[in-house]
Amino acid sequence: MVGILVTLEGIDGSGKTTAARILEGRLRDRDVLFTAEPTPGEIGRLIRKEHLAQDRGPSRRMEELFLFVADHAQHLYQRIIPALDRGALVISDRYTDSRVAYQGVTLQDILPEPIQWIRELHRPWSVDPHLTILFRLDPALAVERCRTRPRERFEHEAILTQVARIFDRLAQEEPRRFLVIDAEAEGEEVAERALSAILELAASRISL
Ligand code: TMP
Repeated sequence: MVGILVTLEGIDGSGKTTAARILEGRLRDRDVLFTAEPTPGEIGRLIRKEHLAQDRGPSRRMEELFLFVADHAQHLYQRIIPALDRGALVISDRYTDSRVAYQGVTLQDILPEPIQWIRELHRPWSVDPHLTILFRLDPALAVERCRTRPRERFEHEAILTQVARIFDRLAQEEPRRFLVIDAEAEGEEVAERALSAILELAASRISL
């Protein structure tokens, strides 16, 4: 695999999807695959309809994790790996860290060590990102930003506070992979920071 994998992570309302749209415009002249999880494919659609629209309760949470994992497997083998093999830059709006952070919260009453377990579940077969950009925003502000759209399952301050804590922990544990961006700034400014990190990484890989 000769390409570069960059993932965008953060709590709901952190502005990463807006940044992804700006990045798409700026990187138009390169071989870039812009993609996202959950995907728009069959499993991703099922997740949005069955699990994100409402909370189906603790008995559905393990099923939910495996749907996210199945969606990831399909995404990885059908889209990401082929793009990396041809040398493309792949930018994914959410990836495995979202599972670690969100399902790390939803499964905390079901499993003894959900964070560790979810990571181990991916480790032998998934592909690690070269760079993960974490859009960091105060959960209260993030919920405020989500107000203009119908509220999804996780868009509550108490949940996002726990999710944000896990993202912070992941970033602290892997400082070389993570770039943490203060997402409170204006959208263009946030996207510019992300763009310069991506271009820097692309340049360093070419010169290897
Ligand atoms: P979105 O904000 O990118 O539309 O993502 C939809 C929601 O799905 C968001 O609340 C985070 C959640 N999610 C998980 O819980 N686990 C996952 O593995 C992924 C990719 C997303």
